Amino acid sequence: MEPKRRKFIEICVVGATPCTAMAAAPVPATAPNTSTPLAARKYNRVKLVDVDGKAIKAKSLKPHHNYVFNYPYASTPCFLLNLDKSLADKVSLTSESGSNYDWPGGVGVAKSIVAYSAICAHKLAYPTSQISFISYRPKPSKASARGQVISCCADKSVYDPFLGAKVISGPASQPLAAILLEHDAKTDELYAVGIFGGEKFNEFFQKYDFKLSMEMGTRAKEIVSATTRLSDLAAYSTQTPQC
Ligand code: FES
Repeated sequence: MEPKRRKFIEICVVGATPCTAMAAAPVPATAPNTSTPLAARKYNRVKLVDVDGKAIKAKSLKPHHNYVFNYPYASTPCFLLNLDKSLADKVSLTSESGSNYDWPGGVGVAKSIVAYSAICAHKLAYPTSQISFISYRPKPSKASARGQVISCCADKSVYDPFLGAKVISGPASQPLAAILLEHDAKTDELYAVGIFGGEKFNEFFQKYDFKLSMEMGTRAKEIVSATTRLSDLAAYSTQTPQC
């Protein structure tokens, strides 16, 4: 990236990892080793685009709306949320392995845009084309007396998207993995650049190996590059049960 352009880019930095170190880190050619899940992991820098391939503008994101994109693999969905509130402070979190990391908050002009892996940290429920048991719930529900949470109807894990997707209640043993986002202040475009927190991709590919193979073949484990399409959850999954 040219230095001139870089200064316009607001980088969502991971914990103690300096911005410059992240920028210099090589993009893995294959799936990174997830045995040390808390280190920031740079995957490809991928632009969020719409169904026509046009760049998503951050200002176009509806507040408290479920958006989904696949990252870092072609089969691994993530939520993108505009929480309509400045989330500028770091939040210290702990993974199920007991390691600590800092979630750096939101991006965008208002620091209100966040993204998380949509693979539930409990038993890996995730949005499929048929159904999504996990989603952002703007309103209170049976699973959570509080609205504006991510909850999973499979076993009622509830996560706080305002606090790095930390677990509020339920059986999940760690926060949802967070997606590192960049917001280009000049163009208002959004990029996914990496992951931090406790990834569940190895377990995900093991658990759903047959299903993913039937649906996508070898493409399921391809690392996304260049662009990834942002969809409404309602378009991504036919059913989104409430609980
Ligand atoms: S799979 Fe989500 S709560 Fe069990």
